Amino acid sequence: MGYTDHTQMEIVKHQYDTVIIGSGLAGLRASLEAVKVGSVVILTKLYPTRSHSTAAQGGIGAALGNEEEDDPEWHFFDTVKGSDFLGDQDAIEFMCYSAIPIVIELEHLGVPFSRTADGKIAQRRFGGHTKYFGKEPVRRACYSADRTGHAVLHALYEQALKNQVKFFEEFQVLDIVIEDGIAQGVIALEIKRGILHLFETKAIIVASGGFGKIFKVTSNAFATTGECLSILFEQGIPLEDMEFFQFHPTGLYGLGILITEGARGEGGILINGRGERFMEKYAPTLKDLAPRDVISRAILTEIKEGRGIKGKEYVYLDLTHLDPKILEKRLPEISSFCKTYLGIDPAKEPIPVVPTAHYAMGGIPTDIKGRVLRDTNGSYVAGLYAAGECACVSVHGANRLGCNSLLDTLVFGKEAGLDVAKNFKNFLRGKIPSYRIEKVKGFIEFLNSNKGAERVAPLRERLQRTLMDKASVFRTKRSLEEALEEINNLRERFRKVELKDKGTVFNQERLQAFELYHMFNLAEALVRSALVREESRGAHYREDFPYRDDQNWLKHTFIFKTPQGVEFKFKPVVITKFQPTERIF
Ligand code: FUM
Repeated sequence: MGYTDHTQMEIVKHQYDTVIIGSGLAGLRASLEAVKVGSVVILTKLYPTRSHSTAAQGGIGAALGNEEEDDPEWHFFDTVKGSDFLGDQDAIEFMCYSAIPIVIELEHLGVPFSRTADGKIAQRRFGGHTKYFGKEPVRRACYSADRTGHAVLHALYEQALKNQVKFFEEFQVLDIVIEDGIAQGVIALEIKRGILHLFETKAIIVASGGFGKIFKVTSNAFATTGECLSILFEQGIPLEDMEFFQFHPTGLYGLGILITEGARGEGGILINGRGERFMEKYAPTLKDLAPRDVISRAILTEIKEGRGIKGKEYVYLDLTHLDPKILEKRLPEISSFCKTYLGIDPAKEPIPVVPTAHYAMGGIPTDIKGRVLRDTNGSYVAGLYAAGECACVSVHGANRLGCNSLLDTLVFGKEAGLDVAKNFKNFLRGKIPSYRIEKVKGFIEFLNSNKGAERVAPLRERLQRTLMDKASVFRTKRSLEEALEEINNLRERFRKVELKDKGTVFNQERLQAFELYHMFNLAEALVRSALVREESRGAHYREDFPYRDDQNWLKHTFIFKTPQGVEFKFKPVVITKFQPTERIF
């Protein structure tokens, strides 16, 4: 891509001690620690309370034992088993034992949790949450009706404002500048006015969320496009375990909108076209509350074998036997989604559902303190942190358990903020070299002036369809190679992309072109990692390698972008307590 003609763009310079990218739960929680030692700015491409964390419905996992006996050790065990033994057990143990204090802290910060009759934080069942090491389901998900993410996000946003965290909203990050192995600053575009802003800083925390929008059917919001992962990847920072992308079993048919697992936690059941409760066959103990990878494959198997509803490509989630008060009090959000989008009252009719792309288990590799790793040997980039869905600690391994995502954002967001605060005195203020600014301007100029027959939306649609058809729940070498070929074609076609909107003010087309450019990198990293891993584990199911292969594949994949193409390295899984066993639910 040529970067010849540079724009005369206005540039505004800022200095903050810590720059956080993303105003979801990880970024907000980190900010509350970092702001104790210096100035903090959060850059977000949305209005803060529209961050995707707000869409988290069902709850946050913590073994409070408010409704029945529970133990963080069982939470630890469930998370390891749920991860298909690919999660790092030191990190998982830390997260599960931190869960109780982190939830109590949220309560003290003002989160309006749903309550038990005696006033404690209410808890419900969720997929893969068990007691006595897998013997029976347990109520571990702490919730605020089915709007848990929304409730936590608003409380943390208020706290951040109260603590003088500065927000620059509707700012699109265009570059995260790493020079000489040290984080220097961030270049961002003010979407409203089309002006560039430079943030030279001491520490950067990337908390920009996932990249589910590379798939056609997804529970993820429109903005969940993952460019920050790709920006780092292009600078030689690896991405870890990219092949593991979770499909949530119950997306609203035709739309992909999340119907919380909490609905099954409250007693909802999945039914096929013959009226059978088919999960009994696939997971005899946990049934409809088995982990998501197991249920997603079961649903698609039912559909493939002709047992979808009326032969169509969905099954039913049936809540009609529940007390309507449960729907009213604990599941109001999904009830209203069903009414609004499908004209269905879930108290009276079953909900048509199908798996939807939901969560990236892989991402920017970090240690427990949130420091971004630049290799498999533990070396890290000074001053650069990542937390939340964009990061891979790795606590989710090959498959995340429901309610461990909010937990991950809060526990490791906090750790990243604490580590910034602890090491703050050792960090020097960064400098953004002019060639980095020129490069960003060159890319904008390319988008502004390029001529050709291609448009952003059809290319994106094609990419999303390709990933959906060839690299989603079921994969083969052939389907993945076809996906790779198509990604390469689309990337070529992108060279001929022409924008209709050449303006500076709220230029959404240009923004989406920028996102798409980076989505190609993420799609390629996912597909290549899926091709390399010749086994089936968790959410990564290779029909041509249908079994888990611990002998060869009990390890993390690290994909690197090099001038010669991509390269792989591998890192052993940290196993401290639970040896891999057969995964029966
Ligand atoms: O089903 C849900 O409410 C989703 C929760 C999660 O992804 O953790």
